[in-house]
Parts: sequence; C-alpha cells; structure tokens
Amino acid sequence: MANYDIKDPRLAEGGRLRIEWAEREMPVLRQIKERFAKERPLQGIRVSACLHVTTETANLMKTLHAGGADVVLVASNPLSTQDDVASSLVNHDEIPTFAIKGEDNVVYYKHIHAALDHKPHFTMDDGADLVSTMHKDRRDCLDTIIGGTEETTTGVIRLRAMAADKALMFPVMAVNDALTKHFFDNRYGTGQSTIDGIVRATNVLLAGKVFVVAGYGWCGRGLAMRARGMGSNVIVTEIDPMKALEAVMDGFRVMPMAEAAKIGDIFCTVTGDINVIDRHHFEAMKSGAIVANSGHFNVEINIPALAEMSTKVRLVRPFVQEYTLKDGRVIHILGEGRLINLASAEGHPASVMDMSFANQALGLEYMVKNAGKLEKTVYSVPAEIDNEIARLKLKAMGVDIDVLTEEQVKYLNSWEEGT
Ligand code: ADE
Repeated sequence: MANYDIKDPRLAEGGRLRIEWAEREMPVLRQIKERFAKERPLQGIRVSACLHVTTETANLMKTLHAGGADVVLVASNPLSTQDDVASSLVNHDEIPTFAIKGEDNVVYYKHIHAALDHKPHFTMDDGADLVSTMHKDRRDCLDTIIGGTEETTTGVIRLRAMAADKALMFPVMAVNDALTKHFFDNRYGTGQSTIDGIVRATNVLLAGKVFVVAGYGWCGRGLAMRARGMGSNVIVTEIDPMKALEAVMDGFRVMPMAEAAKIGDIFCTVTGDINVIDRHHFEAMKSGAIVANSGHFNVEINIPALAEMSTKVRLVRPFVQEYTLKDGRVIHILGEGRLINLASAEGHPASVMDMSFANQALGLEYMVKNAGKLEKTVYSVPAEIDNEIARLKLKAMGVDIDVLTEEQVKYLNSWEEGT
C-alpha cells in the first residue's frame, strides 16, 4: 500500500480550513505545539496513532510533528473519519494517513497493519486496537516499541485486563484517567456531541420525548444532563447501585432496560458493554423507537438479533436504518450502532479535545523522557501534568482563581484548631 490511503485528495483545502477553525478553540495544545517546535522533545521518535481522524486529531498530529515525531495516523473506527481532514494531513502536513469514512473491517485492519509497519517506538490508541493487534498478530513490533498512550475508557479497561493477565509487553499511559480528560471530554464532550449526532441524523424534536440513557458513567451523566436540557423526559438505566443512586438524586427516573424499553422514544447506550439493548428489549419497544449508541464499540445494541427479527431493512435517511419487524412495528437504528457523535456529527468540540489532547502530547513527552524507567503496566497521567493543563485552560479562558493565604495554608496543615 502507498504511504497513505484516503478518500479524495481534492478535499484537502476544505479540511485545512476546518483544522484551522478547530485550532482557535485549542489554546493549550497550541502553546504545547509552540514549545515543541522550539525544543523538539520528540525528535526521531516514531509514533503510530490510531485515533478518530477529526479536525482536533489533526491539530494533535501537527503538534507531535512540530515536536520532531515521525507520525503515522490511522482511523480508530470505520465510521468516524472526516475525509477532508485525512486529505489535508496528507497533502499539507506530510503526515501519512490511512483512513476512509465507511471503510469495512478488512480495510480497517489493513490500515492498523499499515500503522504497525511503521515500527513505532510509541503507539497512541483510542480503544486499544493497535496495542491489541500488536500483541496478537504483530509481535515483530515488540522489538522496537517503548510505550504507548490510550485515550478512552474502553481502551483503558482492555489494557488493565492485559496488565492483570501479565500479557501487556510495554508501559501505557491512560490519558482517560486524567481529570482534565474524563471530567470534561467524557461528560461535556459526549453530552453535547451525542445530542448533536442524534439531531443531525434524525432532526427529531427532543422536547417532550422519553429519552433513555443506558449507563451513568461520565459519558452517561453528560448525555442525561444535556437531554434534560433539551426538554426530554430522561430515564437512566444502570447496573451499579452507586451510579444508579446518583442518577436518582440527580433527578432522573431509574429503572431496568426491560421497563424503559416499553416507554422510550429515543435510546442511547454509553456503557462500554455488549448487548445492553437486546432481542427482548426490541420485542417490547414502541413502533418508531430510535436507537443509538455513543459507546466506543458497536456492540452495545444487538443489531444482528434485530436483523433476525426483521422482514425488511432500508436506509431512510443518511445514518438512519429502519428495521420492519414481523408484527409490523418499525425500529430505527442510527449510524449502524457505531458512536453516533462521530458517525453523523463531528465528535466532541475542539475546546474539550484541547485538554484531552494536551494530555496525549504531554503524556507522550513524559514517556519519552522516562523511557526505560517504566514497568510493563498501565500508568495514570502524573498529577503535575493534569494540574498544569487545568491552569493553562483557565488562563486561556481568562478565568482567575484565588490563592491560599499563608494563614489558610497553616490552618489546612494543622489539626489543633477546632471551634
Ligand atoms: N473523540 C470524541 N470526539 C473526538 C474528536 N472530536 N476528535 C477525536 N476524538 C474524539
């Protein structure tokens, strides 16, 4: 394969304009890029990145490139690529990119292998497909690999399972663990972009609809909050008693999916687990129900079961498949059950990706500096990096905060003073 695989080179100019537009909202990453251009902390380092190919990711790739890294980028999901961005990276930034929106699984894995053919010193994953493929099928890459970073909850869960099995062969930094990542990206990013994806795909009015959110992790919290803000009557489903309790006290109705299935108008899964919406749930749903997923993999909705139950499937709008069941009811699946915020919209807005990708850039720099000292396990982003990103973000937003007085520091460090 040539050293890129993109849909259409003529899309490059439009991609460049959108990448520049995103950069305006990424002041923290921009500052890192300026420093990297001077200091070149990644000089000669080969990086293979498997991320959603968006305008925000393009700005991260340009930052690593400015730092001296030799970067290759491939898609981390078959349906999340922005083809104009891939084109611009290849044509304007000399960053080999292998990503085509709508690529099938065979092409998706061909692209993953192209990233591994780069013989990376570091991987940068979103969902752990690079690391997992390397460990299963491309152990030739283990000779040169030094470490990796991982963007998302699902990927971190996979990596921690590998580390627990003693299967992980190099250190990986869990970017998702950083507070400046999951507090903001998972909550406000997923909240806004998932609503955006559902609305762009369907153009349905959310006000007055019963909106079922499966999962009340950071992503579910953000989505439930924003769906309520649009006037939906929100139901949360959970398996964790603590999260369920939190959802109740946040003012949501909580019930099992079997009950919610009967009354929901719109469903969205954000759990990270499989078959959260299953055959018996489809059996209970109202005709016309809309079902989407915003979790990392397309396994949360049992679409094969729905297909078996159906007599007809047709695409009624881009990203909307209408399944007609044997009893005449119809159910709409959005974006083939892939993460709807990236399939039919543009993913999280740049302002939150600014912090997530600042963690990626600084996490990678940290791993390069500490190469050889780290164990074959999963590390969290050091608190100093996390706090520095929060400080820089506040500064860029023009927000000042108070500083403890000496008296207050003393009080906080003493135990004698009471009432
Ligand atoms: N994940 C969610 N939104 C994203 C975005 N805009 N860019 C890259 N990865 C993302």
